Amino acid sequence: MSLYDLAKPLLFQADAETAHRSVHELLAATQDTPLEQLLADHYTVVDSRLRVDAFGQTFHNPVGVAAGFDKNAEIPNALAALGFGHVEIGGVTAEPQAGNPRPRMFRLPDDQALINRMGFNNDGADVIGDRLAETDCTVPLGVNIGKSKSTPNDEAEEDYLYTFERVREGGDYFVVNVSSPNTPGLRELQQRDRLESILGTLQDAGADPLLVKLSPNLTNAATEEALDVVDSLDLDGVIATNTSTDRPASLHGDHADEEGGLSGDSIEGEATSMVRFVAQRTDKPVVGVGGISDAEGAYEKIRNGASVVQLYTGLVYEGPSLARDINRGLLELLERDGFDSIEDAVGADL
Ligand code: FNR
Repeated sequence: MSLYDLAKPLLFQADAETAHRSVHELLAATQDTPLEQLLADHYTVVDSRLRVDAFGQTFHNPVGVAAGFDKNAEIPNALAALGFGHVEIGGVTAEPQAGNPRPRMFRLPDDQALINRMGFNNDGADVIGDRLAETDCTVPLGVNIGKSKSTPNDEAEEDYLYTFERVREGGDYFVVNVSSPNTPGLRELQQRDRLESILGTLQDAGADPLLVKLSPNLTNAATEEALDVVDSLDLDGVIATNTSTDRPASLHGDHADEEGGLSGDSIEGEATSMVRFVAQRTDKPVVGVGGISDAEGAYEKIRNGASVVQLYTGLVYEGPSLARDINRGLLELLERDGFDSIEDAVGADL
């Protein structure tokens, strides 16, 4: 039995966001202390077969923390010490935002899922930019950029640009997030002309590497349009996927009808299909995210075309040893299937 098995029932008595905050504070207390190195020694799996080179970054292992866990870039090194190969902070918006009224994050334990409608609560680009400037992250650090709620869609370019200019020194890669369901109208920015204009603006400003994060709810035709933009601008990669507004009939419990984005087990299949669809249509690296909670799930995304993967909800249900367990499990799966490295397994099922 792990320490998390003991802590989980207590954490789960609290509201999901309160529990998240407690875990966040605990991790923050370890950062930049001797405990950080102890955690890193305990949780990091060192093996060259796990190394992935993608969009100009060297990932020591393919398992990263998805956007939303560390919205304000407060604990990237503590998360790296849990054995993650990269950390994506944010979503950051140009303006500081309080987000939606609480409660806005709900557990669906029977489904190993979450529904959230946080609404880009974050300290804003000025504060987060300053924080990043003081951060020397031990693993590649991505910055997930969202749009301020008060900025109309037809002024989105300037909003994304403002944030990029403030975080550019502190990020190793940049993500245009046009796929959160919790900012009204945001997902309309996935349409070809709007996407081209926003991504082109950031590219002209020097955003490199630049990726776009897509919704799992796009139709195939809309996904193809977005990928046309990715290819025509020669972008660096695609993140698939964000949370889903679909509600599978299988969902249990009181919270199944809450508004917001669904994540976790219940979107795993949908997200993997999207990874596969994207990987079949572009040569750009794909970051696979959605419902990963074990090595098999990570491996499936990789075999369907993901160069690296990310997770959030799995951490809530499985606890801090998850990156280590996945990395160990991946090594076993590579051996079982005769692959020399993760890079060899990328896209094996395409
Ligand atoms: C998220 N996610 C998210 N994504 C993003 O691009 N910007 C963001 O600010 C957030 N915020 C956020 C908050 C909360 C509470 C959750 C649960 C999720 C989406 C996240 O990065 C990921 O794409 C999905 O959660 C799917 O992965 P998991 O959680 O199933 O591993």
